[in-house]
Amino acid sequence: MRAVRTVIESVADTDATVLIRGESGVGKDLVARAIHSASGRGHGPFVKVNCAAIPPGLLESELFGHEKGAFTGAHRRKPGQFEYANKGTIYLDEIAELPLALQAKLLHVLQDFRFSRVGGHGLIDVDARVVAATNRDLEHAMARSEFREDLYYRLNVVEIRIPPLRERRGEIPLLASAFLSRFNEQYGRAKQLSSETMARLTEHSWSGNVRELENVIRRMVVLTDGEQAFEALVARQRNGHASTHAAASIASEGLREIARRGAREAERKALVEVLDRVQWNRAEASRILKVSYKTLLNKISECKLSPPSRRF
Ligand SMILES: Nc1ncnc2c1ncn2[C@@H]1O[C@H](COP(=O)(O)OP(=O)(O)OP(=O)(O)O)[C@@H](O)[C@H]1O
Ligand SMILES: [Mg+2]
Repeated sequence: MRAVRTVIESVADTDATVLIRGESGVGKDLVARAIHSASGRGHGPFVKVNCAAIPPGLLESELFGHEKGAFTGAHRRKPGQFEYANKGTIYLDEIAELPLALQAKLLHVLQDFRFSRVGGHGLIDVDARVVAATNRDLEHAMARSEFREDLYYRLNVVEIRIPPLRERRGEIPLLASAFLSRFNEQYGRAKQLSSETMARLTEHSWSGNVRELENVIRRMVVLTDGEQAFEALVARQRNGHASTHAAASIASEGLREIARRGAREAERKALVEVLDRVQWNRAEASRILKVSYKTLLNKISECKLSPPSRRF
């Protein structure tokens, strides 16, 4: 992250467009904010638009605003997020989800920082720095004609790649200690991490990256047996997921029932992981899991899952 920080500091004060890349949970939002804060626009607005969280049909109006009567339901003129970001930074998260037609419009906006609202004719000038992020393989998306190459080059003036946590394990103890003191203070606890736990944390695969680490430490602080809970999680992963209670129950269950239960458990686990990773963005989760939105909702209710009531 030191190398990332150096890049942030050297590009912050230019108005260059930055493309931040990295797996889910590596800290892309954090880097986008850091760029904004370190820039001369730091006192201006920082506007985040998650392109995956807004239905594609509404995205153009969300970004660029609309005039009264532009479409059914457009009862009054509404400015878009680009206008709100004037003199500041607009952070376009999950940029790969931008529909092709909007990719073309965005490209034009990036060329002359001028656009018209949906249903409008007048041109609006905007002075906004653009930072975009994605966890998807844009080169692959381009090869499949899902992402415009010209937009890619326009966004990619500066590219910041944030490596997954498993490729920078040296940072795990630092991050773990920082989260530990933060949550100890927040929950009025005085939990400590044993050196064995620290070693386990450092070895863990962290597919959910820093977000997963943060959540694990929070759980350790909040739960009385937090450390044991983590040990159990690691042990389960080491032994293969469903093996823990397999042997004892084979006698009483048929093969078919065992398979069904295994499938249910695997589904549940995938749901929990993906929903956590996308912060309960169900549209995004259904895309990742390759099921329809409706199927996803059914599965969520079958597994009795609900969004975390608080996020920090
Ligand atoms: N270097 C870091 N130091 C402290 N906290 C961090 C660091 N990197 C990430 N985090 C924390 O981890 C969590 C996930 O980070 P962030 O939301 O920036 O990830 P992301 O890459 O945007 O993920 P996604 O692709 O899912 O949107 C946040 O709570 C963030 O504060
Ligand atoms: Mg993010």
